[in-house]
Amino acid sequence: MIVVASANGRVGIQTAIDILKSGGTAIEAVEAATRLVEDNLQDHTVGRNGYPNILGDLELDASIMNGRTLESGAVAAMKNVPAAITVARKVMDKLPHALLAGEGAERFAAEMGLARDEQMVSPEIEAIRKNLLTAGGMSAEKIAKLQTDIELWDWVKMATDPERTYGTVNFIAQDKNGDIASAVSTSGWAWKYPGRVGDSPIIGAGNYADNRYGAAACTGMGEMAIRACTAHSLVFYMKMGQSVTEAAQRVMEDLRDLSGPYIAVMNLVAIDKDGNPAGFTSKQGRTFIYQTEDMESCVEQDRTYVDIPSRWTKA
Ligand code: GLY
Repeated sequence: MIVVASANGRVGIQTAIDILKSGGTAIEAVEAATRLVEDNLQDHTVGRNGYPNILGDLELDASIMNGRTLESGAVAAMKNVPAAITVARKVMDKLPHALLAGEGAERFAAEMGLARDEQMVSPEIEAIRKNLLTAGGMSAEKIAKLQTDIELWDWVKMATDPERTYGTVNFIAQDKNGDIASAVSTSGWAWKYPGRVGDSPIIGAGNYADNRYGAAACTGMGEMAIRACTAHSLVFYMKMGQSVTEAAQRVMEDLRDLSGPYIAVMNLVAIDKDGNPAGFTSKQGRTFIYQTEDMESCVEQDRTYVDIPSRWTKA
């Protein structure tokens, strides 16, 4: 039994391993652990108190996948419901669909009895947003009219702060039956255009699990993982016979080979069908964590670095 996570999963990994040790499933473990990160007010990249979109509205993306059945559930651009991963699981368990977005996801969450919270962003985060817009040249009068009167498309580029643009949490677990599950949750690209959806709720892009080969999940610039189908590609390369580290190296190279502008940081975690973990990054110094049933606490390990030169403008 093993749980692998992005480093910000530290607040949830012990809960996940305890669930597995008491006979719970991989799906139960990754959902419960992700909920703890979604409720962590210090993490501004996932759930409550995440960085909102340019209008100040928090829009959450999440997905969950069952590697035994290849069933999945996801929500995208969902407002006012902090427990995004649980709504994603309910989509998987209760609906014939795989992904609900926006108001539909909110309505479904209410039908499932999940709590609403219309104050998920703290005044401190709201102040950061306004300061960024002000520093970028937007007047207080324009900020007040953002919801209705301002064309947003060019301001979105201005408001992007590379240091806090793309955070997410990944959990992958393998339970005592060998079943694998993966969960991904995020508040997405800080100050994004309203309605922007990243890789986290897109099965195959930011999340994929298949008991027969392994699982992979991404954090980083979701647009890249969407274009390269990164999580599914990694599992597919394992299906074609590569080890988890060879497959991870190869998808990082696929990302590096993307052309055009808007290339930035990508990180991934993965396991193979035997529970061997791997973590890769294009930013030096990044770590991931994992814990097996016989470990008292998680291990934090350096991710393997693969250079993906950043570029933000057309060549
Ligand atoms: N990887 C998270 C996002 O791009 O939204």
